[in-house]
Amino acid sequence: MAIRSLSCMNVGQHLGAGTFGVVFLARDSCDNDTLVALKKIKMERETQGFPVNAIREIRILKALKHPNVVDLREIVVFNENDDRETYKSVTDFQHNDVFMVFEYVDYDLYGLIRSSGVIFNEAHIRSYMKQLLDGVHFLHKNNILHRDIKSANILITKGNVLKIADWGLARFTQKSNHRLSNPVVTLWYRSPELLCGMRKYGPEVDMWSVGCIFGEMKARGPILAYKEKDSELLQMELLWSECGTNMTSDVLKKYEEYPNWDKYKFTKTSNKSIKTKFEGERGWDTDSLNLLESLLDWNPETRMSASDALSHSYFYNGQGVIPPNKLLVFDNVECPRQSDVMQKHNQDHEKRIEAKRKADIKQKDMDAVVAANKADMATKAVKRRFDSVSNAGGVSTGQEKKYKVIRRPGGATAKDAAKDTTNAVISNPSGNKREEPVSHTTNKSSEPAPQSLKVEPMKQRSLASDGFF
Ligand SMILES: Nc1ncnc2c1ncn2[C@@H]1O[C@H](COP(=O)(O)OP(=O)(O)O)[C@@H](O)[C@H]1O
Ligand SMILES: [Mg+2]
Repeated sequence: MAIRSLSCMNVGQHLGAGTFGVVFLARDSCDNDTLVALKKIKMERETQGFPVNAIREIRILKALKHPNVVDLREIVVFNENDDRETYKSVTDFQHNDVFMVFEYVDYDLYGLIRSSGVIFNEAHIRSYMKQLLDGVHFLHKNNILHRDIKSANILITKGNVLKIADWGLARFTQKSNHRLSNPVVTLWYRSPELLCGMRKYGPEVDMWSVGCIFGEMKARGPILAYKEKDSELLQMELLWSECGTNMTSDVLKKYEEYPNWDKYKFTKTSNKSIKTKFEGERGWDTDSLNLLESLLDWNPETRMSASDALSHSYFYNGQGVIPPNKLLVFDNVECPRQSDVMQKHNQDHEKRIEAKRKADIKQKDMDAVVAANKADMATKAVKRRFDSVSNAGGVSTGQEKKYKVIRRPGGATAKDAAKDTTNAVISNPSGNKREEPVSHTTNKSSEPAPQSLKVEPMKQRSLASDGFF
């Protein structure tokens, strides 16, 4: 089938963005305005051409058709000549940009878990977990590893059908002794053997992530997440302290052979298992605790597979698994997507940085003003001392800080003034004239001010009048 151009799509709001693409909501005008999600492939530097992740994602998604795998409908291309008119307002589309066209899915699990308006009950969790395992079992059966299972990459339709999305890190594997890339998988969902630099790994790495998702749905938040900082060391320390007792001496021997084990110098043994973390908490019964523990097994060889997990007693107790169309529907619920939450987080972070930058600048300005003012005062004080010494022919006492000495018309010279011992007319800072003896001394022996001198208050300096603000 020929590749269509983007002009068949009415591009709408931005749905998300991640490492490999930007996702937009769109309507396919050539197909009854069906809602679709358009993932614009981020081109690598021109010399490197079409990104390998996108090639893998397209190849794998074309091969995988399953109710719990997001459906890749087709690929469309932005053709500047045909499409420029339609997308005048969208400035960052370039000629030959490639878009993957997916079925549109209403929510992502990340947003659902974090929405206070969503009533998320055990029946939902059991159903989503069953659907997730169905999807993962299907891909593992087809020798595919996803390598980025996390709540933001799991989509949920309004009808409660789960779809595994974001196949940018997925790959085919045949031989278990093949060396694969590491690091893979988002840190909070990354298994301990990956954190130890293992490059010969298999479906077990996805199963650790599935265990993290199970815990996240139950606890309504990530369960093994070192939130302050992205650091393999701190993440591994967290796994050790939260579920370290799963590491028996046999398993420890295995880990000692992993490439980066020496990087982690665990001095204390852990006395916690993931089971003890949640034991006794609301919503955790024996079956769910056992399932979680089997998925978050430190030993990749004994970690529970998708097919075994599907037959776990967790799915058969109580009401069993309720079909998606019989579950409570989240109608009219505004769910943030991961990118909304991240965008808000980044915006808040940027606002905080900007506020701090402005505060720093203001502080620097204030410091500069204070310093300039001090320097100005010092210069003026020196000048006043000099003036008063030359006017009165003596050494200043500091009185001139408040009163400026001025000459009356036809007044005496400085020499005369120094000789004169009568009272001077002074005007005080409030402007009232009064007659009183002025202690305008030239030395410590209190010499009266000359009569010919009028003493006026100095003008108060204000920072504003000096043009600092
Ligand atoms: N088919 C879809 N329908 C609706 N939203 C989607 C769809 N595919 C992706 N998204 C949204 O876009 C976000 C990023 O898409 P994803 O495929 O994970 O790209 P990336 O590789 O950049 O992380 C997802 O977390 C999800 O919120
Ligand atoms: Mg993603």
